[in-house]
Parts: sequence; C-alpha cells; structure tokens
Amino acid sequence: MSKVRSQILSIAANSGDVVVTNDDLAKVIDTNDEWIVKRTGIRERRYIEDGTYWSDMVMPAVEKALDDAKTKPEEIGLIVTGTLTGDLEMPSAAGLIQARLGVMGAGAFNLQAACSGFLYSVTVADRFIRCEPDLKVLVVGGDAVSRIMDKMDRSTAVLFGDGGGAAVMGANTSGDGRGILSSRIYSSGEHGAMLYLSADNGADIKYGYRKPGEEMPPRTVQMRGNEVFKIAVHSMERASIEVLEEAGIDKDDIDVIVPHQANIRIIQTLASRLGVDMERVYVNVDRFGNTSAGTIPLALTEAVEQGMVKEGSTVLMPVFGGGLTWGVTLMKW
Ligand code: UT7
Repeated sequence: MSKVRSQILSIAANSGDVVVTNDDLAKVIDTNDEWIVKRTGIRERRYIEDGTYWSDMVMPAVEKALDDAKTKPEEIGLIVTGTLTGDLEMPSAAGLIQARLGVMGAGAFNLQAACSGFLYSVTVADRFIRCEPDLKVLVVGGDAVSRIMDKMDRSTAVLFGDGGGAAVMGANTSGDGRGILSSRIYSSGEHGAMLYLSADNGADIKYGYRKPGEEMPPRTVQMRGNEVFKIAVHSMERASIEVLEEAGIDKDDIDVIVPHQANIRIIQTLASRLGVDMERVYVNVDRFGNTSAGTIPLALTEAVEQGMVKEGSTVLMPVFGGGLTWGVTLMKW
C-alpha cells in the first residue's frame, strides 16, 4: 500500500501594486539606495494601495490556486491562514477568505507565526491531510507589512513590503514520492523582544521589551536587526539539517532552495553554510523586500513559473521570523 503524503497541488501569489523604490524612501528618511542594496539586496518593494486591505491582495492568488488545482471552493474542507495583517481581528482572515469565496462549513482559522506563517500553515495542513487523506486544504500566507510598520523608522522601513500567496494542498496516494518529505516548525518566545509587534496595551513594558516612558508609534514592528540576523542564519541552518536528516536526503540532492527573503546576505550565508551554490537558490528579495509570511509563496510561485522548480525537484524551504519563529519544509515538487 502506498504511503500517504500531502502535496502542494497548486501555488499562486500576489503583491501590493504600488512600487516603492529605494530612492523613493531616501526622499523621506535618512537612507540611500547604495546602503540598502549593499546591506540587504533590496531594490524595491510593493505596498497595497490606500483604501484596500490584505484580503484584496491575496484573493487573486486564492482564486488562481483553486483554478490551477481544478478545485471548487466548496471542495475545500479547511482554510489555514498565516498572517499578522488580516482585515479584521474577528472574523479571522481565514474566515473572511471563506466568506469571499462564498462557501460555508469548512473549518477556517488563522495562526500567528509572523514571517513563518505560510510554512507553519503548510505544516498544519500536512498533518491534517495525512490523518484525513480526503481533505483538501487551502493554505494562505502573507502580510501587508506596510500597515504595521513605522515608515519613518529606517531600521524597518527599508526592509518590508506587502505580498502573499495561496496553495491548495491534498493527499498524494499514488506512491510516486512527490509531496512533503519532512516539515518542522520551531519557536523561541523568550527571544521575542528581538522582533515584535505590540498590542498597544502596555504589555510590551510588562515583558521588558520596552522601557516605561520609552515612546514608539503604536502597533509597529520593532526589530533588533543585528541580533535577528545571526540567530536567523544559525536557526535555519540547524533546522534544515534536521529536516534533511529526518527525510534521509543529502544536502547535495537538494535541487532548489526557496528561502525566506529577508536579506540577500542571510540567504547567501545560509546557502554557503549548507554547501549549496547560489545558482540553486531562488531570490526575489530585490523586487519585493521582506513580505513576512508572503516570501515563500511569492518565491515558490515564481520559481515554478520560471521552471527552476519542476516536477520531481527536491525543494528546501527555510523560513525565519518574529516571535521568534522558524521552520523548514522539504518537498518533492
Ligand atoms: O523576516 C524576519 C527576519 N528579519 C531579518 O532577518 C532582518 C535581519 N537583519 C538584517 O537584515 C540587518 O541586520 C539589517 C538590514 C536590518 C541591518 O543591516 P546591518 O548590516 O546589520 O546594519 P547595522 O544595523 O549594523 O548598521 C550599520 C550602519 C550603522 O551606521 P554606523 O553606526 O556604522 O555608522 C547604521 O546606523 O548602517 C546604518 N544604517 C543605515 N544607513 C542607511 C542602519 N540602517 C540604515 C539605513 N540606511 N536604512
């Protein structure tokens, strides 16, 4: 009997429409194109338009993913959404997607894992599908980070943009080996102060993230970039090795790495530590910046469209984000 594996049946993505270049930012904050390109690899990012919301950005990707998987909305039994920036606190972003699809009955919930939201959601879907092989899961991940950052704070404003995507996942019982080979998620809440978003209720003072009297714009992402950089590289490297070992796959057998797109230097350092040359690493941070939970679907969609990820490719996807959270998914496409 063939082993049930969950599989990403389709993937699609979308970003904000408003292109913001480094030069645009340099007009309003103390930064410059040369610094941003050299230290991050980012040339431009995209914001959603004023008067639009997170769901307006991801819905085209949701609809395309459903079409590509030849799946009707009513066939979806579960919607899992990883985002920090849903339109409302309640209903959840997943519930609003369900409403916009016009379907009833499927379970729908958000999980909060910052940049790791999409891969956390893939991992949850993987476990559900392996328990319940008839289930089709819609996984959505992405963020409109422009809505939760201080656009005058150069330590974050140059990095982030808006993007997201969707995948339809289901079981592969064919025994051809395609699907998720191994997927793990990790967290280190005790390091939360390194990259956090306050609820604007004083709890960040209670946890020692902010000193009493220290003013900062409400509900904006705060990051100690230097510290995050080091822990991100180390954590993604260690987790990648664990996931590869669990699946019995050698580093040399990775065809493509589709990594979290936060900073080209993080990507290059990780690739070099894993001994994978950059020709096998998909990069689009230059055009989108860090879209938080949107980086993996945006990069995977492009890597598939460009033929870099093709049927049978062994793909490693490491991610790292606020919270702190991280995760790695290894799959045969
Ligand atoms: O997705 C979640 C995970 N997030 C990340 O992975 C982000 C990880 N961190 C990073 O990507 C990098 O740490 C940053 C891009 C945020 C910062 O790069 P860095 O090389 O660590 O720069 P730095 O903070 O050490 O600053 C170096 C210099 C400083 O000037 P001095 O003290 O050397 O004179 C900064 O004041 O660069 C200056 N600087 C800037 N200059 C122009 C810092 N930010 C900027 C800026 N524009 N935006």
